Amino acid sequence: MQREAIWTEKYRPRKLEEVSGQETIIRNLQSYVKRRNLPHLIFSGPAGVGKTAAAVAMAHEFYADTWAENFTELNASDERGIEVVRNTIKNFARTMPIGNAAFKIIFLDEADALTDAAQSALRRTMERYSGTCRFILSCNYSSKIIEPIQSRCSVYRFKPLSYDAIASRAKYIADTEGLTLSDDALRAITYVSMGDMRRAINALQSAAVLSSEIKPEMLYEITATARPDEVEALIETAMAGEFLDALDKLGVMIDKGISGDEILAQMHRLAIKMDIPARQKVELMDRIGETDYRITEGANERIQLDALIASLCLVFGSSEQG
Ligand SMILES: Nc1ncnc2c1ncn2[C@@H]1O[C@H](COP(=O)(O)OP(=O)(O)O)[C@@H](O)[C@H]1O
Ligand SMILES: [Mg+2]
Repeated sequence: MQREAIWTEKYRPRKLEEVSGQETIIRNLQSYVKRRNLPHLIFSGPAGVGKTAAAVAMAHEFYADTWAENFTELNASDERGIEVVRNTIKNFARTMPIGNAAFKIIFLDEADALTDAAQSALRRTMERYSGTCRFILSCNYSSKIIEPIQSRCSVYRFKPLSYDAIASRAKYIADTEGLTLSDDALRAITYVSMGDMRRAINALQSAAVLSSEIKPEMLYEITATARPDEVEALIETAMAGEFLDALDKLGVMIDKGISGDEILAQMHRLAIKMDIPARQKVELMDRIGETDYRITEGANERIQLDALIASLCLVFGSSEQG
């Protein structure tokens, strides 16, 4: 069998304009390229939303054929924190840029994994080599980057990708790969992705192995995501006070191998969007939050989910069933 390339690599954007969503950020990055000027940057945000992709694409636009010499990508959690700063970064930073480039770019992924001491060392390195080198620090939370670094950087906050951003890229990939993607399948991809493009692309590639005609069911199954209509039905049944029926629905999802905290996370997502009176939404959220907290504290997941269903029945249900 032929080995397939990983699509997240195959479809890594080569140009900033190929980065889907994040429009304001991309426009700013494009203007750095145009002015051939770059401050140090912090890219913060959740996984799979294009932080690395944007940095790599921007570097391609800055350097064209000297890209490999002038751009390097390191992961702060790969190696032993401070060693990365002391050696790898210094070695790269202290040699002159190649060609007619004015500076090199170092992309440091998971910079928030560095200890404060390592970050202080990094700050000194940034200052020392700022004549020849620009840093892009990627992290989940910019608050985990020490203040002296933050104040030397322009901070860009990447957001979970919108429905449109995921859908347009998924469609492009599906077209290129010769897959059929119905509107239902497209909706399923964006739902299971939770705004994470890596998740969307991986789900699409896994589904494509099964069939070139992508079906929503495949995508839910591959990602162990409950169908949104099933989760909504679960909430509605519980709120109608139909305890045993709701327990059945919950059991069906768990039997499919969907984890308790996944079901809870989906209940939360859908509850926000449900068309119910505000007061009911407050009660619903309060109880979902309570269950989440208990599970995080180590309580038995299944018991807590059953108890959540029970409490929804008690609060909302007027029925005498069960
Ligand atoms: N906004 C985006 N537009 C297009 N592709 C994206 C986008 N975000 C992520 N990807 C795809 O998902 C993969 C992982 O994205 P990456 O940039 O490494 O995410 P992050 O660094 O934010 O965790 C990339 O290789 C790319 O194929
Ligand atoms: Mg990344």
